[in-house]
Amino acid sequence: MNLSKFGEKFTRKAGITQLMDDLGEAMAKDEMLMLGGGNPAHIPAVQDRFRKRMMDILAEPKGFESMIGNYDSSRGNAAFIEALADMLRETFGWAIGPENIALTNGSQNAFFCLFNLFAGEMPDGSKKKVLFPLTPEYIGYVDSGLSDEFFMAQRPSIELLDDGLFKYHVDFDALEIGDDIGAICVSRPTNPTGNVLTDEEMEHLDMLAREKGIPFIIDNAYGTPFPDIIYTEAKPLWNENTVVCMSLSKFGLPNLRTGIVIARKEIASAIADINGVMHLAPGGMGARMAIDLIRNGEIMQMSREIVRPFYQRKAFQTLDWFREELGSSSSSGKEAVPYRIHKPEGALFLWLWFQDLPCTAGELYDRLKVRNTLIIPGHHFFPGLDEYWQHKHECIRVTYAQDDDVVHEGVKIIADEVRKIYREA
Ligand SMILES: Cc1ncc(COP(=O)(O)O)c(C=O)c1O
Repeated sequence: MNLSKFGEKFTRKAGITQLMDDLGEAMAKDEMLMLGGGNPAHIPAVQDRFRKRMMDILAEPKGFESMIGNYDSSRGNAAFIEALADMLRETFGWAIGPENIALTNGSQNAFFCLFNLFAGEMPDGSKKKVLFPLTPEYIGYVDSGLSDEFFMAQRPSIELLDDGLFKYHVDFDALEIGDDIGAICVSRPTNPTGNVLTDEEMEHLDMLAREKGIPFIIDNAYGTPFPDIIYTEAKPLWNENTVVCMSLSKFGLPNLRTGIVIARKEIASAIADINGVMHLAPGGMGARMAIDLIRNGEIMQMSREIVRPFYQRKAFQTLDWFREELGSSSSSGKEAVPYRIHKPEGALFLWLWFQDLPCTAGELYDRLKVRNTLIIPGHHFFPGLDEYWQHKHECIRVTYAQDDDVVHEGVKIIADEVRKIYREA
């Protein structure tokens, strides 16, 4: 098969594709403990609400027929966009209208469009990159540039906290934003670490982006006002220079592929233009399922009262289990393992750091796979950070969205395997 450069780039079996294949294969095996993937949980109260909404659609005259039988516009479902603009204006005071919003087929698709709008080869022949001012960052950004050498990234500074926790911060002293940077991007809360960048960090990055005249892209897939999986105080940020990306996935509709871009109107229009070429229009089922919840504010209430507490309990329960299993315990006769966990501030993951791990996190991944436990090794989460850094190979991401018994069993196996590795060294 003779492939174009595009064809070659996107069919290359990159590490991430291999990993996704592993996840897919593992999903088929019942006994696998799936602490690797990013699938949100099936939260009964959320699913019941959507079941009811679906019944209402089915009962509406022409409700079902128009849901499956009509294209939306290339910007996405107009009624949903209008309701969302109203909600965000009323809730946060953001000066936005429908012209500032475009929908996409999942926010993953939004990042592909946005990154390639602002980086890559420019009309004057120069090349620009997307900057991640703090890595580790979301694995899904890797390979989303149309050209190679598309990303640039920065190591974080590490704050050691009490109780075996730590927190990453943007290392502003080292941060350089050259003329070859076309956009800055952060996820907040961050996948994989559960970090929530502080308000000061966000304001500082916003100021730097404005000084440079480049957009500041904020991946709000886990953020406020929905699904609101944030366990700490965080002020939402939007202005004409920011691009806030949201999603219905982590609220509970990942398979309906609904991403939301909120940006100044030229950027929202550009997303609609790309939608037209790539898909005619984004799928509109998510918008139809969620519109009532947006109109009456229920989506925010459910996020606060159901979704966030659901994950928050699981986060801290999993943290306790790791402490029990990895720490020293005189009754069990187990010796402590040198580890720290990133302060859980949101999203669906714990990020564990095994200091001076005698093997790489990739080898740990392989050993755990043999024991039917899937995690994701840390080195995949550094898009754009090509330099060698031992820390990349000492960390793993563990998802706590699965049922408690699965997570608990997985934690025990991870702790047991890691302890063996230190012992063997
Ligand atoms: C940080 C982050 N951004 C974006 C996405 C993409 O989600 P979706 O395309 O389902 O909206 C994910 C999915 O896991 C994510 O974790």
